[in-house]
Amino acid sequence: APTVDLTGKRILVTAGGTRERLDPVRFLTNDSSGKMGYAVAAAAQRAGATVTLITAPTALTVPRGVTVVPIESTQELADAVTSRFPQADALIMAAAVADFQPLTAATQKIKKTADNDELTLTLKKTPDILKTVAPMKQADQVVVGFAAETQELLKNGRQKLRHKHLDMLAANDVSRADIGFNGDNNQVTFLFADGTSQQTPVASKRVIGERLIEQVAKLFAKK
Ligand code: PMT
Repeated sequence: APTVDLTGKRILVTAGGTRERLDPVRFLTNDSSGKMGYAVAAAAQRAGATVTLITAPTALTVPRGVTVVPIESTQELADAVTSRFPQADALIMAAAVADFQPLTAATQKIKKTADNDELTLTLKKTPDILKTVAPMKQADQVVVGFAAETQELLKNGRQKLRHKHLDMLAANDVSRADIGFNGDNNQVTFLFADGTSQQTPVASKRVIGERLIEQVAKLFAKK
């Protein structure tokens, strides 16, 4: 179990891969299983926090004692996070959020016809949830992001930490088959706003979730 006590803290965690609808039966998504976010939520719950898990569709069972808010799209995730953030002591964004969504979603199933051998999709940027939340942040609130990178893990991670105004960022290398998306294990480097960092060993997502929650407790202590 985590070695910290977060009794009385309200923690908002996001998990899973958002879905951007093309038509009533199709969507764009990514490889996120939700395992990392669910592990963080469970660790926070074991540490005594009151946990709300905002989750994209997953095959996972909700951790006991955790309040669940189901979402599908990035816009729904953004709405769910921004409406609950003011009442939260910490926000931890483990969800794999789509960066682009179809410019328009077809109301009827897109048909293949004799004259459409190619289909062009036009995508537009989704709202950046962490950037939207940043101006709402009070001095005593802790905001943690993840960075899923396939190259320049620490450089890109530090940039996201700064641009998204985070207290901490957990950077994971998603080009590796043994960690990152989908599997049961992960390895992250915690990057802090003060320029320091700390790398975990490769471990189960349960253990990584606990290490992350221990760092969140330290961040609370510094507020
Ligand atoms: O779910 P699993 O299969 O267990 O996999 C875990 C994971 C690899 C998905 C997880 O560890 C992880 O890295 N989650 C973040 C994935 C992601 O969206 O990374 P990013 O580098 O694209 O985004 C950086 C941060 O900004 C993230 O905290 C993300 O939630 C947030 N974001 C991204 C886009 C957007 N429009 N708004 C956001 O707030």
